[in-house]
Amino acid sequence: MTAIIAPSLLSANFATLHSEITMLNQSDASWLHFDVMDGVFVPNISFGFEIIKTVRALSEKTLDVHLMIVQPERYITRFKQAGADVLTVHYEACDHLHRVVEEIKEANMKVGVAINPHTPVHLLEDILPELDMVLIMSVNPGFGGQKFIENTYNKILKLQEMILECGSNTLIEVDGGVNLSNAGELISLGVDVLVAGNTVFSAPNPKEVIHQLASLK
Ligand code: DX5
Ligand code: ZN
Repeated sequence: MTAIIAPSLLSANFATLHSEITMLNQSDASWLHFDVMDGVFVPNISFGFEIIKTVRALSEKTLDVHLMIVQPERYITRFKQAGADVLTVHYEACDHLHRVVEEIKEANMKVGVAINPHTPVHLLEDILPELDMVLIMSVNPGFGGQKFIENTYNKILKLQEMILECGSNTLIEVDGGVNLSNAGELISLGVDVLVAGNTVFSAPNPKEVIHQLASLK
């Protein structure tokens, strides 16, 4: 099985955003990943609706929006209007996760739940059948270019078991520190979606790196 590659725009060059999107449109990436940060849930502030809307107008790819914000339920409709196809909220940011998940589905988006490195996967047991995707953070959220946390491999295995047990079609996405050295193993463990920021955008030939990631089995 190959994986869906979702380059993270956080590491793109915003001065040349149009040509970055053109490059991504011509690449083997099926999804584009957007890291929305509010400076509260994570110690960094990134971008919001306008960037997503701008890219939506320039790209046919699936827009995968990862919200690292508190109270994400306040903005579900706005992200749908901006063009999000998949909307992921953090387990740690939602007191009423089940309600938020339902609201995202009602807004006609695919729904994902992200967990931080310290959050065990078993906490998702009761919500898992409702989810289109689980995003396992393999770095502490907030910044691109960090080192992959090795315990992620154990979390993927546990999540795979839980998905098999409940019989859902939930995708597994891994986000943070993904590179050409660990991507093969992640795919062999059953990861469906690989987010890659630094690995793609700091490469001399990003399109070639995306091609290499997308060719791994
Ligand atoms: C981190 C973000 C990631 C990040 C990944 O908070 O969620 O999507 O952009 O970047 P790399 O691939 O550089 O670790
Ligand atoms: Zn992300």
